[in-house]
Amino acid sequence: MVSGLLAAGHRVSTCSRTPSAFIEELSNGPLSANFRYSRLDMGDLTAYDAFLEASVAWGGPLYGLVNNAGMAMAGLLASSRDADSERILRVNLLGPLAMSRLAAGCFLRQRTGGRIVNISSIIGSRGYKGLAAYSSSKAGLDGLTRALARELGRLQVTVNSIAPGYMKTDMSVEFTQDQLAQIVNRTPLKRLGTPKDVVGLLLFLLSDAAAFITGQVILVDGGLSC
Ligand SMILES: NC(=O)c1ccc[n+]([C@@H]2O[C@H](COP(=O)([O-])OP(=O)(O)OC[C@H]3O[C@@H](n4cnc5c(N)ncnc54)[C@H](OP(=O)(O)O)[C@@H]3O)[C@@H](O)[C@H]2O)c1
Repeated sequence: MVSGLLAAGHRVSTCSRTPSAFIEELSNGPLSANFRYSRLDMGDLTAYDAFLEASVAWGGPLYGLVNNAGMAMAGLLASSRDADSERILRVNLLGPLAMSRLAAGCFLRQRTGGRIVNISSIIGSRGYKGLAAYSSSKAGLDGLTRALARELGRLQVTVNSIAPGYMKTDMSVEFTQDQLAQIVNRTPLKRLGTPKDVVGLLLFLLSDAAAFITGQVILVDGGLSC
């Protein structure tokens, strides 16, 4: 998504816990002037303020926020630890809630309109055995999308969720080969998604063409939920 945003001419300020080879490459590449990276644990809500302030100081008024960082831990709820569920809910739901609050403050001050896109999951509406906390966090995120769309609409700020199906990323290593084969078999397009499959919709939701679309949860799942 960062590559897609940069290629479309956006300036991107992003974060993760560990700078990867991809981050290094972008930081030294031809689009480095439009790219800013901070090391940040989204589980530490107290660090958000400084991140956003530094991002705006670097990039100018906030145009949009994409809440993407997420985590999952597979396991039946009966044998899971409350501390793990809390961590999932903190990173996947409380984090976006807190970051959206700060972004809403920027949009209120700026009066420029804006965009918030939450990266949710079809599991938020369908559920998945062994992912109770994750499913709850994504269902909560979709609730945030709808409530905030109503709250920020008068400022011409749109808020939407993208709900991917099963994608080929580091996160899907949690699934067994059998589970993945079953998912592909049930997917009309007969494959897993890739991050590239999400980029088109993300760019659209950030664009002027989507100015009258808000409060929606839009699925990118190869037809799995149809
Ligand atoms: N993969 C799927 O099948 C799928 C399906 C539906 C929805 N999604 C959603 O799509 C989003 C991206 O997931 P992905 O599949 O790309 O997962 P991924 O490959 O595991 O990547 C997750 C990204 O989030 C960052 N991250 C995770 N925890 C973080 C934290 N506490 N603080 C800061 N950054 C953190 C990771 O970097 P660090 O580890 O370095 O922090 C990494 O860059 C998530 O919200 C996920 O729930 C994924």
